[in-house]
Amino acid sequence: MTVAMTVEQHEPPGFSQPAVELREVSRHYGEKQAEVRALDRVSVSFPRGFWTAVMGPSGSGKSTLLHCAAGLERLSEGQVLLGGADITRASDRELTELRRAEIGFVFQSFNLIGSLTAEQNVALPLKLAGHKVARSRRCGIPARPPG
Ligand SMILES: Nc1ncnc2c1ncn2[C@@H]1O[C@H](COP(=O)(O)OP(=O)(O)OP(=O)(O)O)[C@@H](O)[C@H]1O
Ligand SMILES: [Mg+2]
Repeated sequence: MTVAMTVEQHEPPGFSQPAVELREVSRHYGEKQAEVRALDRVSVSFPRGFWTAVMGPSGSGKSTLLHCAAGLERLSEGQVLLGGADITRASDRELTELRRAEIGFVFQSFNLIGSLTAEQNVALPLKLAGHKVARSRRCGIPARPPG
């Protein structure tokens, strides 16, 4: 069984709408006798301004849950709302743009591009979105040393 545990970090004002909400979400792989029900009518809400840990044994559906929540995987059934917007029937292009602009991922298998440096990997989504990325911003350091 997979469980989601939320830890409050602070009380953000006006953040009543969940960051992500899954409603009766199912995700099945394969068919007939080979069918795997990775998610079976899961409803869960992830509030804004909180840390949430999703825990469960290997194969219990944690990655599938997060992939569905982030618009990386299509659902078999149910609905996903991201910031209140229903992304269930969004096109591939809309999902790509949404993920690039709104979501940060650290994948279990990293999914980094081997021919790029760590810095270039981090900057890549901004470049794909057409932004110029200053070196100081890419490194996360101030452009000029303080003082
Ligand atoms: N693309 C796929 N095709 C077929 N079955 C899949 C696919 N992806 C996941 N599954 C199956 O769905 C179930 C849930 O897998 P999932 O990767 O979500 O589990 P997990 O909790 O993230 O596991 P782990 O802790 O090992 O990362 C498993 O039985 C897995 O074999
Ligand atoms: Mg996993």
